Amino acid sequence: MTAGTDTAGLMDAIYQNQRYFYDLTRKYYLLGRDHLINQLDVPEGGTVLELGCGTGRNLIAAAKRYPSAQFFGLDISDQMLATARKNIEKAGYSNRIKLIQGDASNAPAVSGFGPDAYSRVFYSYTLSMMPIWREALQTGLANLSGEGKISIVDFGQQERLPSWFRGLLFKWLNGFHVTPRADLQSELSSLAEVHSADLKFAPLYRGYAVYAELRRR
Ligand SMILES: C[S@@+](CC[C@H](N)C(=O)[O-])C[C@H]1O[C@@H](n2cnc3c(N)ncnc32)[C@H](O)[C@@H]1O
Repeated sequence: MTAGTDTAGLMDAIYQNQRYFYDLTRKYYLLGRDHLINQLDVPEGGTVLELGCGTGRNLIAAAKRYPSAQFFGLDISDQMLATARKNIEKAGYSNRIKLIQGDASNAPAVSGFGPDAYSRVFYSYTLSMMPIWREALQTGLANLSGEGKISIVDFGQQERLPSWFRGLLFKWLNGFHVTPRADLQSELSSLAEVHSADLKFAPLYRGYAVYAELRRR
């Protein structure tokens, strides 16, 4: 099962106007993205893939942080990719960041685009937006190198925040087709077992966000 063309149309519709003020507004509530970038710990000359790269904000920040690495971004929305291309060019990283349109839940969408396997694959506030997020995790694993690492940051379950806040936030996110994944930890635990990987899973900001890593042994 893959997301299909309906998802591409839906994402384009959501982002066709928002992409112009996306980075300005999201910095206040897509928390933990810089934490993920700092923890990527990309090896010298490594390769990094972001699935659902949006405006390219994370790829640009990561390219600054890891100057010897090459970066690759996939997104289903042509609208977001148009903004990402402009941002990457403006930042002067067109030679180090490559983009492709595709569906993250379809593993072959990535093939032939970058290297056969990536040192790092990451998801930043995308699994909560993909109804078939489990398949998107499979895409990451299928394209990860032998000693690679998958990193994830996304909305948490707000477990240490007031219940009214959780109620309001979840209702608001629903309007953007965003569903924080309550079973993300259990899915990652199963994948860790099947793929002989070590799992790190930690709440950030009192459970507002979660940060996770799956590292192959
Ligand atoms: C909330 S944005 C996050 C963008 C970026 N990762 C960030 O942290 O700013 C979610 C992104 O996921 C993309 N997306 C949603 N479903 C997708 C899919 N099935 N395949 C690839 N990208 C998808 C959207 O187009 C959008 O750019």
